[in-house]
Amino acid sequence: MAGLSGRSAILGLTMHDPERPTPWTSVRREGDKAALYAELAGELDALLADERDRVANAANAAAAIYHALGALNWAGFYFLHGSELILGPFQGRPACVRIPLGKGVCGTAAAQRRSVLVPDVSAYPGHIACDSQSRSELVVPLMAADELLGVLDLDSPVPARFDETDQIGCERLAAIVVRHLS
Ligand code: SME
Repeated sequence: MAGLSGRSAILGLTMHDPERPTPWTSVRREGDKAALYAELAGELDALLADERDRVANAANAAAAIYHALGALNWAGFYFLHGSELILGPFQGRPACVRIPLGKGVCGTAAAQRRSVLVPDVSAYPGHIACDSQSRSELVVPLMAADELLGVLDLDSPVPARFDETDQIGCERLAAIVVRHLS
C-alpha cells in the first residue's frame, strides 16, 4: 500500500492494530516521560524519513504526537508566512487560522524564537483561545539553523500538563520534524 512502505510500516504508527500496542505504550505506563520522548523521537524520525512533502509529514507528525503524548486536546503546526503564522496540519478542534508574530503564545514563541510553556492559559496575557477546553499550552519554535519555519503547538485540557521534560522532549521532536520538511 502506498505510504506504508519502509520502516514506518513496521512501527505501528501508520496503521492502527488494536492487537499490537504502539511501542511507547509500555513506557507511558511506567511513567518515564523522558523515555517516552526518546522512543517517540525515534518513531517520528522513521515515520517521516521516506517522505519529503511538507504537508504530509507535518500531518503525520501532528497525528503521531497527539496520539502518543496523552492529555492533549490540540497538537499541530503553524507555519511562518511573512509576518504571520498560518495554520498547518493539526489534530483537535478547528483553530484560528492566522496569528501575527508577537501575538498569543504561538506568536510570542515565534517572535522570540524560544519555547513558551504556559501552565495556566487564563493567566497568560494575550492568550488566543481557540478551544475553550484548553487549560495549559506548550509552543516550540521550528528552527532550521537560524531560519524560523513556524511553531509546534500543544494544548491540554489539564492545568499545568507540561513541564520542563515535555519542553525538552518537544524541542527534540520539533528538530526531527524540521529535518523532514522540504
Ligand atoms: N492558544 C494559541 C493559539 C493557537 S491554538 O491554541 C491552536 C495562542 O495563544 O497562540
